[in-house]
Amino acid sequence: MILRLSKAIIKHKDQSATGTYHFGIFKYRHYETSSCRVSVQYKTVSYRCSLRKERPAEGEQNLNTIIEAMKQRRSIRKFKPDMPSRKDIEAVAEAGIYAANGRGKQETITLVVTDKALRDRISRVNCSIGGWDSSFDPFYGAPVILIVLANKNHTTHLYDGSLVMGNMMLAAHSLGLGSIWIHRAREEFEMPEYRQLLKDLGIEGEWEGIAHCALGYADGDIPKAAPRKEGRIRWIEAV
Ligand SMILES: Cc1cc2nc3c(=O)[nH]c(=O)nc-3n(C[C@H](O)[C@H](O)[C@H](O)COP(=O)(O)O)c2cc1C
Repeated sequence: MILRLSKAIIKHKDQSATGTYHFGIFKYRHYETSSCRVSVQYKTVSYRCSLRKERPAEGEQNLNTIIEAMKQRRSIRKFKPDMPSRKDIEAVAEAGIYAANGRGKQETITLVVTDKALRDRISRVNCSIGGWDSSFDPFYGAPVILIVLANKNHTTHLYDGSLVMGNMMLAAHSLGLGSIWIHRAREEFEMPEYRQLLKDLGIEGEWEGIAHCALGYADGDIPKAAPRKEGRIRWIEAV
């Protein structure tokens, strides 16, 4: 897709050269539901460029792609067996580790499981923890499982891990992939087998399983969001 733009807001890597610049016509990769990133070469200096629509006028439909993605992302409960590209999986995992985190300590780890044998083993354990019939796959056929672990000794570990999950699910949606938070990672990583898995990976310390992000291509339409409950946003304003 070619977009004709006359204006782009660009940020220099060191954040010191923020400004509005005028360009001619250029190409960039476009996803219907994501924000767009392009790298623009401008006078021998490389800029990371975030494309943003103008802020909508009061009452106008909000076309901000990140907010749109937040509203459109849904939990997927039926996946195709096709493996997403390594590049897309990496992009999702990387989006996770850019999440805000307590005191900037970055005390989470993400395990990217694409090995079918291990994926199926984790599925069986997860199923048994959940108490379901052994024929049920709690990962709904997703070929990839991203497991978020957080350092138990870090006071904000649950929040940090949850934000990693949030980022990854949004990133997945923006790349046209489906995802879902699957629970019971804490119970799994209390089991000797999975503690050993961490040791085998050279991961020392005390890590709590926060969640699994099952990832893959949705088999079917993206479900509609349930209506939001009333009264969940309360304003406190000066009168
Ligand atoms: C903490 C948490 C645990 C969840 N655990 C599971 C799970 O184990 N299995 C599942 O099918 N969905 C699970 N979900 C997905 C929720 O059911 C889903 O997010 C919720 O129904 C809202 O739907 P939406 O994500 O499409 O907006 C979990 C979500 C969260 C945030």
